[in-house]
Amino acid sequence: MKKKLVFATNNSHKLQEVSKILGDNLELVNLHDINCQEDIPETADTLEGNALLKARYIKEHYGFDCFADDTGLEVEALNNAPGVYSARYAGPGHDAQANMRKLLCEMEGKENRKARFRTVIALILDGKEYLFDGIINGVITAEKKGESGFGYDPIFMPDGYTQTFAELGDDIKNTISHRALAVHKLAEFLSSLS
Ligand code: IMP
Repeated sequence: MKKKLVFATNNSHKLQEVSKILGDNLELVNLHDINCQEDIPETADTLEGNALLKARYIKEHYGFDCFADDTGLEVEALNNAPGVYSARYAGPGHDAQANMRKLLCEMEGKENRKARFRTVIALILDGKEYLFDGIINGVITAEKKGESGFGYDPIFMPDGYTQTFAELGDDIKNTISHRALAVHKLAEFLSSLS
């Protein structure tokens, strides 16, 4: 029988991306599948802390082995902001457009445009906790470019490329992204157990 593992997300893009990498040796289910409808607290001040909070919540309240991720955009010239606060950089209730507007505004006149996306995955399996991370370095562009992806994709250009994540499209992004790198580490770990 396949091992059941909960991915603590309801984001269908993420679920698709992650299940492609993890393959079909395990039964991957999401929050909807386990009937978890509440907002899981993300109150830690690090990516590691938030990923662990979410994974522990599922284990404690639903009893399943699970993993959870948290991602942030860390901009060197802004002391690694927005970081763990990336989703609500422009304030609660604001969307990706407002977040990008704020970031471009903060970056006006800054010569150092270096930034990185960092994903942390927390896994709880058979009573033990594990962390995996994935990083992609790049720069913040001067203006938005491209239509695909989500979040800060239109203003992030990965090193070695001349287009933003939003111009590169999901197929390329999903092979090089922070999240893909972290999920590959998770996949390697899981396959080393079998
Ligand atoms: P989450 O932890 O995956 O929910 O990510 C937190 C926030 O980081 C999101 O709301 C986005 O603003 C941003 N973010 C995460 N992953 C990406 C990405 O792959 N591209 C662009 N922005 C992202």
